[in-house]
Amino acid sequence: MLDSLSYCSRCIPDLDGDAFRQIISVSRRNNAIHGITGLLVYGGGLYFQWLEGPPKAVQNLMARIHQDPRHDSLVILGNNFDEPERVFPQWDMEPVGAEQIHEVLIDAIGSIKTETNGALLELLLDHIQRTDGSLL
Ligand SMILES: Cc1cc2nc3c(=O)[nH]c(=O)nc-3n(C[C@H](O)[C@H](O)[C@H](O)COP(=O)(O)O)c2cc1C
Repeated sequence: MLDSLSYCSRCIPDLDGDAFRQIISVSRRNNAIHGITGLLVYGGGLYFQWLEGPPKAVQNLMARIHQDPRHDSLVILGNNFDEPERVFPQWDMEPVGAEQIHEVLIDAIGSIKTETNGALLELLLDHIQRTDGSLL
């Protein structure tokens, strides 16, 4: 069984492209080792990340991410336990542009079977539509 967790946070001012690429490359390496998949979106000064994997691995990673000084004001959007399936099995922390998140969420909703994950994704999709795609 898997845990999934999603959050939004605010990027610290002046984080440059190199710093972002550094987060991606470390994440890709670590997450592959620990069986974590998901999605990381950055845009408009905000991060959105969806993490899923073995419960211990997700908790340990989240504890590290929480303390990371490259972002602040972290808000947990959802935390699901005992999920039978991955929502993003094909992702290993690819960065996605804000404009692409809409499409990614629609795909995920189409293939989802559990109610809690579906409801959370519907909520995010609704938010993106109401803010004209500029949420992130
Ligand atoms: C927005 C954000 C998302 C992150 N996502 C991940 C992640 O998915 N996986 C990961 O290993 N580190 C991620 N990190 C980095 C961790 O906070 C931490 O720096 C890193 O895991 C340390 O790895 P190391 O011990 O191998 O150096 C993220 C950092 C930020 C700011």
